[in-house]
Amino acid sequence: MYAFNLFIFVMILLGAHSLDCNYPKGDSNFYVPMTRKAQFFLREAELMAMEATDSVLPNRQLTTKIRLDMEAIRAQFPIVRNITHRKKWAPGKLRFQSISPDDLRRINETEYGPIKIRHLNIRYRAVENTLNITYLNFPKLYNPLVLGPALLEMLGIESEPVMSIFRDGDDTIFNAETSNYIFVKGSGKCFISCEQKHFWLFMVKCNKNREVVLIKDYMVRYNTLDSPVPTDLFI
Ligand SMILES: *[C@@H]1O[C@H](CO)[C@@H](O)[C@H](O)[C@H]1NC(C)=O
Ligand SMILES: *[C@@H]1O[C@H](CO)[C@@H](O)[C@H](O)[C@H]1NC(C)=O
Ligand SMILES: *[C@@H]1O[C@H](CO)[C@@H](O)[C@H](O)[C@H]1NC(C)=O
Repeated sequence: MYAFNLFIFVMILLGAHSLDCNYPKGDSNFYVPMTRKAQFFLREAELMAMEATDSVLPNRQLTTKIRLDMEAIRAQFPIVRNITHRKKWAPGKLRFQSISPDDLRRINETEYGPIKIRHLNIRYRAVENTLNITYLNFPKLYNPLVLGPALLEMLGIESEPVMSIFRDGDDTIFNAETSNYIFVKGSGKCFISCEQKHFWLFMVKCNKNREVVLIKDYMVRYNTLDSPVPTDLFI
């Protein structure tokens, strides 16, 4: 009995250590119906978690941490409130060139199946048919940058992620090494190339209020498409 009580006590201590910010236990938001806005922020956190950790599915606890941290940053720094994460690729989708029915069956039978063949917008179907391109939808929102190489290794089947062409110059990035957050706001004709970008680097303190500290805040003039985020922000 004593040992059991001690065990519980230690578990509480361990739990308390990560209670406030790092990896909150459970997340009721995963199970209750959500508003569109809440869903958007959950999806945003999932994408940031997958990008930061190169995982095939988002880690649930990391997703919760990112979602709560992002909420705290937006609440404490309204200047970045409207900046959202840029979706770089479509989760749960892959694009194949000249895939045989047999390969479709083999993919369907993996742990990542069952797949659905996506019906294309009629306007593009003619073009895509001549290129012999097939889009597949997977049942979960897998990270295509991890799923594609996994299918190549398992089955020798090549694919490409479905990249998103939408860009307004804005982005949010989670740095898995430091747990810091980068917010980017582009201005100018960002669909082609931003004229300048405003960068903010935030740290979210591991306390009850998720106190946010602004570490860096500066502008960079941009002349090229997709210029990289300055390396000094990855701290
Ligand atoms: C964010 O968007 C809201 C609603 O469109 C607007 O009223 C507000 O001024 C914007 N905030 C910033 C910092 O751009
Ligand atoms: C499309 O790809 C399949 C599978 O590789 C192949 O059998 C077929 O001949 C291709 N069709 C065209 C029009 O290239
Ligand atoms: C994938 O497998 C399921 C059965 O597990 C089947 O119902 C479905 O038609 C298959 N889809 C394709 C595209 O082959």
